[in-house]
Amino acid sequence: MSIYSKFEKLEWIGWQERAALYDRTTLKMTGPTIPRLIELVKPRATDHILDVCCGTGAVAKHLLPSGANVSGIDFAPDMIEQATVSVPSARFVTGDAQDIPFEDGSFDAVLTNFGHYHLPDPDKAIREAARVLKPGGRYGFTTWVGPDASKGFRLIFETILGNVDQTVTTPAAPDAFRLADETVAKQVLESAGFGEVAMETFRSEITCAPDDFVAFLKAATVRATFVMKAQPENVQRRIEALLREGVEMFRQGEVVVVPMPNRIVTATLQ
Ligand SMILES: C[S@@+](CC[C@H](N)C(=O)[O-])C[C@H]1O[C@@H](n2cnc3c(N)ncnc32)[C@H](O)[C@@H]1O
Repeated sequence: MSIYSKFEKLEWIGWQERAALYDRTTLKMTGPTIPRLIELVKPRATDHILDVCCGTGAVAKHLLPSGANVSGIDFAPDMIEQATVSVPSARFVTGDAQDIPFEDGSFDAVLTNFGHYHLPDPDKAIREAARVLKPGGRYGFTTWVGPDASKGFRLIFETILGNVDQTVTTPAAPDAFRLADETVAKQVLESAGFGEVAMETFRSEITCAPDDFVAFLKAATVRATFVMKAQPENVQRRIEALLREGVEMFRQGEVVVVPMPNRIVTATLQ
């Protein structure tokens, strides 16, 4: 049993619970990168493309105009159900990004929009992407920038981790932001057999009414939310109040615009 089994279980429950509301919540954070990710991977009508951690199928939907043959996998069956309804022309199956249920060399391109953050072993998912790609196949993924360079994640993480009851244990979880470091991403990709690694920064924001920020976070995020929910009620309320107060620094008129930069990483299988 992995030290991250509890983390994995909470992720699974969290995404199952969010599938029906995903397009109105989390997708507001994850959606903006998709056109650029697709542009960089240059889909062709003759391509077979796999969307890993597909969620409700937003990447697959954006791939439709390319004419490519699109498949998607996600470990949450309720996400697969939503994706199947949303993009009937694509083929969606329940499956683990770290053990992709397709044969070696099946795809011309593999995409993952904000998936690695949720995996116990993101490096294994990268090796799996390499395995299912044909030689010369293109890989593209997006990943959040961590609190050191993201004002949004700094507010969220510092407020939560700085105020938790230290006697409450939270499940062990892998470093969420490791792949946003260019040196690390290059090393992991190259050791999986990729070359031509490139990375660019993409600016996303959470835009909402200040009073809606906490509710949005709880609806849209799994990891931050399960850390909060493990806390006693009074600690949760205090963290929520501090987040509400803290988000004021991003006020622009009636709304707050919280910067959530991320990186788009592309590579080619050698
Ligand atoms: C932030 S959502 C991104 C969804 C979609 N790519 C998008 O851009 O909207 C993360 C997705 O990863 C899925 N996921 C998490 N762990 C997974 C795993 N081990 N294998 C496959 N999918 C996983 C979740 O169910 C969820 O749908």
